[in-house]
Formats: sequence, structure tokens, C-alpha cells
Amino acid sequence: MRHRVFPALFAAGLVAVAGIAGSQETQTGAQEGAQAQATYQTMTPEQRAAATRAFLGLGPEPDKAAAARGTTLFQQNCAFCHGPQARGATGSSLITSDEVLGDDHGEHLVAFLKRGRPEKGMPAFATMSDDQLTDIAEFLHLQVEAVANRGTYHVLNILVGNAAKGQVYVTEHCTSCHTAETFVHIGSRFRSPEQLQRGWIWPVRPNDSEDSSKAIVATVKTRNGSTIAGRVTQVSDFRITLVDHAGETHVVEREPGVRVEIKDPLAAHQQMIMTLTNDDMHNVTAYLETQK
Ligand code: HEC
Ligand code: HEC
Repeated sequence: MRHRVFPALFAAGLVAVAGIAGSQETQTGAQEGAQAQATYQTMTPEQRAAATRAFLGLGPEPDKAAAARGTTLFQQNCAFCHGPQARGATGSSLITSDEVLGDDHGEHLVAFLKRGRPEKGMPAFATMSDDQLTDIAEFLHLQVEAVANRGTYHVLNILVGNAAKGQVYVTEHCTSCHTAETFVHIGSRFRSPEQLQRGWIWPVRPNDSEDSSKAIVATVKTRNGSTIAGRVTQVSDFRITLVDHAGETHVVEREPGVRVEIKDPLAAHQQMIMTLTNDDMHNVTAYLETQK
């Protein structure tokens, strides 16, 4: 239901919620508008966001930690067609999509994404896990939220954590793999708190072969018994592409008899990230931001 009214309400709703009364309004309308405006102005950013969400019928608040995980998955698998912020490219904008707006926490979207609409150019993502697809769903909900709650989004989402708690969290959960070195000056390495947050949740994998500390590597045993090892540039259930140490590219079909062993240095980090709650995420970002 709510996804039907959404696009029509989108523009009007924001104006009404923001309390900017239109000049065409009747006397009563103007008074109500003024009242709404007064109330709106005394609200905290959280209350404003909640009011907007309720007014537009956006459903429950997106899970922001899941959405942060979904960001990179979306950039890798979907942005090419739908645009980096899901606002459309060769594929449609997903901000006003019925499939997205009719979903709360992935219960419909996950099934849709597994099926896709191959006949219309939307691939099936049958091999992605439910968890990954749920994270992508939360990412999409957060994009809708970002458009709806334009003014409050940034204030609400970044640097609202408790730095002291974040420090405790980092000591307890991150130093099993990292030394303090990783976090020295980390706050200065990013241009904004959002980039910092994205940077520690999903560290970037440099494309060049120089820095191999984060590269996905694989060893492939072919059917004729030879072994190819190198950096993975593409992988699917059917095919793997590697660049070996000499810089030569190999494309191998994953047929029966071909053995593929993939090593992803970031796998452990990503597994850890899957256990983060919203609060943990906010606290850790607030703490790392202090490490200038
Ligand atoms: C190769 C291009 C391509 C890629 C990659 C792609 N999509 Fe799509 N997607 C499309 C096209 C084209 C449509 C429109 C299909 C139609 O007309 O019914 C679509 C439709 C959709 C819809 C339904 C929109 C609606 O309400 O009708 C959703 C949701 C969606 N895509 C999400 C995703 C997500 C999430 C990913 C990544 C996991 C993704 N897409 C990857 C091309 C793509
Ligand atoms: C289970 C092991 C593990 C845990 C736990 C872990 N990480 Fe990582 N992390 C890694 C690995 C492996 C890498 C990739 C190699 C590298 O860059 O050091 C990485 C990379 C990073 C990077 C990028 C470093 C750079 O120089 O580009 C940051 C930042 C980071 N992790 C932050 C964290 C934070 C914050 C936590 C705790 C909330 C955490 N990690 C927990 C294993 C882990």
C-alpha cells in the first residue's frame, strides 16, 4: 500500500512535513502550517526523521550497520546499472521502485534479487547469500531514507557515537587481528567521517598489483594437472579470471575436474563486520575520528 502513495507524496510530503506552508493555502491551512512548523522546529533531528518517515509511510528505520555492509556489495554488483546511489543509470532508479518500497527488511527483496528479471535485463543473483542480499536491501532502504530525510541524514548517521565506548570496542574486538598501528592517524586518512566509516568497514582493495596485502588470490589446478596462481580479477560460479606474477591473464572455466582455491585476506575482517550493531558502528567511527 505505502509504495503506491509514495511517489505522489514524495514532493508534497516533504514540503508539508518541513512546515513550509504554500502561498495558495486557505486560512486554516496556513494556521495549521504555522503550527506544524513551530513543532517541527523544536524537534530533535531524530524526531524530525521519525516524523518524515511516518508521514511518508517509509516503514521501519533501516538497519544502518547492515546498510553499510551492503554499500560495497551494491557498488560491486549493482551500481554499474543502477547508479552508485541507486538513482538510476542504464537500469532504473530504485528510489521509487515498488519492489524496494514494498519491502521492510529484505523479506521480499531477497527473493526478487535471487530471481531477477533476466528477460528484461535484470540479472538473477542466485548465488549471493541471503545475508548479503539483505544487506543490499538495507542499503537501498537507506538511500530512500537519505532522499526523504535530506537535511537530517548526515547529522543522524555519522559521528553520533560515543568515542570512549568505541575505544573499548576496538580494544576488545579489533586488536585480535590488528595492532595499534592500523589505527594511528586513521582519522586523517579520510576526507569525511562518512568516508572514514566506509573505509574501516569495507577497506578498499587497491587495483594495482603493487599492494597485495588485500588482494584476493587463487590457486587453480586445471584438468591437465597444471597449476595457475595469481590475483583474482573476476570470479563467478562458472569462470575465474586470474593475473599471474608475470602479469599474464588466465580465464579458466570451472568445469568438473578443475580445482579452485580462493584466499581473501579481508574475509576474516568482513566476517567480523557482520557482527557489528548500529551502536558499535557509530561508537567505533566516533573513536577512530579522534585518531587524527
Ligand atoms: C546488467 C544491469 C543490471 C544489474 C547489474 C542489476 N540490475 Fe537491477 N535492474 C536492471 C534492469 C534493466 C531492471 C528493470 C527490469 C524491468 O524492466 O522489469 C532492473 C530492475 C531492478 C529492480 C526492480 C525495479 C522495479 O521496481 O521494477 C530492483 C529492485 C533491482 N533491479 C535491484 C538490483 C540490485 C539490488 C542489483 C545488484 C544486486 C541489481 N539490480 C543489478 C538492470 C540491472
Ligand atoms: C579476524 C581478523 C580481523 C578483525 C577482528 C578485524 N580486522 Fe580489520 N582487517 C583484517 C585484515 C586481514 C585486513 C586486510 C589487511 C590489512 O590491511 O591489514 C583488515 C583491514 C582493515 C583496515 C584497512 C587497513 C588499511 O591500512 O587499509 C581497517 C581500517 C580495519 N581493518 C579496521 C578494523 C576495525 C576497526 C576492526 C574492529 C571493529 C577490525 N578491523 C577487525 C582483519 C581483521
